Amino acid sequence: MSSRGLPTPITIAEPEFGFNAAEKGDGKAMADPVTAPTMTAISLTVNGKPYSKSVEPRTLLVHFLREDLGLTGTHVGCDTSSCGACVVHLNGSAVKSCTVLAVQADGGEIVTIEGLGSEAHLHHVQEGFWEKHGLQCGYCTPGMIMTAVAFLERNPHPSETEIRDALEGNICRCTGYQNIVRAIQYAAEHAPA
Ligand code: FES
Ligand code: FES
Repeated sequence: MSSRGLPTPITIAEPEFGFNAAEKGDGKAMADPVTAPTMTAISLTVNGKPYSKSVEPRTLLVHFLREDLGLTGTHVGCDTSSCGACVVHLNGSAVKSCTVLAVQADGGEIVTIEGLGSEAHLHHVQEGFWEKHGLQCGYCTPGMIMTAVAFLERNPHPSETEIRDALEGNICRCTGYQNIVRAIQYAAEHAPA
């Protein structure tokens, strides 16, 4: 306390903006030079079409698909492997493409929502979402559908509980999931023989 009974003011040190401690000493130190990231060549097949591109090693597969290939049907919801909006198939397995580097997909075969069906000929899982109103805003839908397609390939006749378990990694903020489950049940019942 000060002599007048007031609290002693706290002195806050000046933050050290800039480069490093050595700079403060003689004023000569410089920041590490920024170097351009090395590009890496990758070749992969997306929806049956071959691509060869150069990418930064840090590029996430979801960004590669959306920004380099223009396949914006794959969505980014969280970027942290929580929501499932970014699910695609890599070599036959459903993966969250925000947790895969594009360089890790080198040589791989990818299927995105654009490669599943067409407006004229919907995939039976897409048809299920259409018939059972399995979406509202639609943001989660590509990831839901890609997850469901991979799941039904592993388990063509699932119980409701198994469907709900399979959707554990996919978040929908709109539907309450009931119609999504019905859509997948419909798809299981209407799968081509
Ligand atoms: S964006 Fe990949 S899990 Fe959410
Ligand atoms: S339909 Fe809106 S997030 Fe699922």
